[in-house]
Amino acid sequence: MAIEFHIISIFPGMFEPVLNESVLKRAREKGCLKIFLHDLRDYAGDRHRTTDDYPYGGGSGMVMKPAPLAAAIEAVKEKAPGARVVMMTPQGVPFTQAKALEISAWEKVILVCGRYEGVDERIRQFFVDEELSIGDYVLTGGELAAMVVVDAVSRLVPGVLGCEGSLKEETFSEPMLEYPQYTRPENFRGHAVPPVLLSGNHEEIRKWRRRESLSRTLAKRPELLAKVQLGEEDIKMLETIERIV
Ligand code: ADE
Repeated sequence: MAIEFHIISIFPGMFEPVLNESVLKRAREKGCLKIFLHDLRDYAGDRHRTTDDYPYGGGSGMVMKPAPLAAAIEAVKEKAPGARVVMMTPQGVPFTQAKALEISAWEKVILVCGRYEGVDERIRQFFVDEELSIGDYVLTGGELAAMVVVDAVSRLVPGVLGCEGSLKEETFSEPMLEYPQYTRPENFRGHAVPPVLLSGNHEEIRKWRRRESLSRTLAKRPELLAKVQLGEEDIKMLETIERIV
């Protein structure tokens, strides 16, 4: 399987250093991840390649002009028929693991990165399918947010991660925190690895890990537990954890 991202930005140079390393680099080489960068200024239409202007009604800051964005989205849509247009903005719906999973099934995605104080409202209304926010804080632009989306979505596309098994157990495929991990040495500065992990007893290890996941989630992100389908064993474990905590 493969996914194709088209990114529209006035800073296309920001992306390659991040999206051309490690896992994503290998995925691009294998062909299961395709990233196309589109410089918004190429669609500006004037000598100065202007993409922003003063806000109607006054106020500080600049607003991204509608014409270059509309032209860029239309041109990219022609290159990527059927692509969904997603705009990165703090006003968007929260980007979650569930959303990443949903997007990973799309074949083509156009990510529009806003800058300045905002984007002309008509772009949001008439050219964008959905808006995404990566959190309740304001970045200087949508570029870093778009990179977060590309990273989180790509690793869910079959073939992108070397070891497919590593996807299944991890944090948030079920919305629970992961159990603690250890590697060598067995004793690090006087701190030993939990003995069960050295026992070779796979059933005991599985139970220990599940219990750790449950107790961590309960301690750090209790609101997540409401979304998990708990089994009989989980409920028993939680009862003992709650008694201890
Ligand atoms: N652009 C600026 N801040 C953002 C955020 N938190 N999420 C998505 N895009 C943004």
